[in-house]
Amino acid sequence: MKITPFATEHFFAEYEFTTPYQLCNSDCETITIAELLAMAEVDLAKLGQLGLGYTESQGNPQLREAIAASYTTATPDDIVILGTPVEGIYLAARALLEPDDEVIVLSPAYDALINMFEHVVGPSNVKKWQFQPTDTSWTLDFETLAQKITPKTKLLVVNFPHNPTGYLPTPEQLTQLVQIVEQHNLWLFYDEMYHGLIHSGTPSIPSAADVYQQAVVLSGLSKTYGLPGLRTGWLVIQDEALRQNVMNWKFYTSICPPAPSEFLAMAAWQVREQLRQKNIAQIEHNLALAEDFFARWEALFVWKRPLAGSVALVKMNIPSVTQFATQMATDAGVLIHPATTLGSDDQHMRMGFGRAAFATALTHFDNYLQQTTLP
Ligand SMILES: Cc1ncc(COP(=O)(O)O)c(C=O)c1O
Repeated sequence: MKITPFATEHFFAEYEFTTPYQLCNSDCETITIAELLAMAEVDLAKLGQLGLGYTESQGNPQLREAIAASYTTATPDDIVILGTPVEGIYLAARALLEPDDEVIVLSPAYDALINMFEHVVGPSNVKKWQFQPTDTSWTLDFETLAQKITPKTKLLVVNFPHNPTGYLPTPEQLTQLVQIVEQHNLWLFYDEMYHGLIHSGTPSIPSAADVYQQAVVLSGLSKTYGLPGLRTGWLVIQDEALRQNVMNWKFYTSICPPAPSEFLAMAAWQVREQLRQKNIAQIEHNLALAEDFFARWEALFVWKRPLAGSVALVKMNIPSVTQFATQMATDAGVLIHPATTLGSDDQHMRMGFGRAAFATALTHFDNYLQQTTLP
């Protein structure tokens, strides 16, 4: 059976390990195993002593307990440690839905958040709830959302901080969102992969797990903590029956989390605040460089500063970002990400601000623009 190509991952598979100057990564700067363990004051030799047997399918109980403690309402039983964060989208789509259920997805979005749900219920049963552009940012139109709900609607899918716009709802908007799903008795799949990456001046909001019982929350260590190579993610599911169904699907995919990743995730969780602060500082530093860059190229870009997360959606006043990006990657080794893979139009690119090499890559981008005649 075919599924829509996962365009973002195809794009990164082609360019991520071959293009030297990258401006579009959604993860934050990573660290080594030795650095992580030193930070957490865990002896590196302990990793060497770890057995490589199967692990507990729902996840290491100590890790689940530590993660549950970061939520107000979740208990260790509610946490399902995944084989990879993206697996959580697959498991939730499978466990929550029957063919012909209707789903509403905030769009644009990380492609799996649209494609996986379309695969399960059929493309005509997935309705896109579009972000609304404002002059300086983006906003959510709750009236349109409410109009899309029918008696067949089972699930609303959102992601905040949002990839690719960098949008975070206000506390009032989160309340409004929860009121709507509650009123219509909908499940809420809430992707919090960028949770905690809140920029200075943006009011923070609680995890959806703490404000809505029927939320299925996806979180993990890849983005906020800069540890995508650990492949550690988890779902928070407070509904026992749904959790058991998710576990059953998980036996067909990863069975249990990898032992080395759980060991390192335990260490990472102890120093998560340090990692998070380091990554926010890097993002804010890079955002300042980006603002300066965009001020110099005002006619070419429409810049909307993100409120949270590690990415932003930037308009380019050229006919095709895809064509331009491909040419620039070949000619100058500079990588930008055409946001068409995320369901946006071909005049937008997604930029990422979490990497230490951002400044160098931006200089190469600037030089390329100065040498190039734009269409
Ligand atoms: C919104 C969102 N959800 C889920 C994922 C999947 O995370 P991972 O690649 O760590 O599996 C990503 C990765 O880019 C993402 O941006």
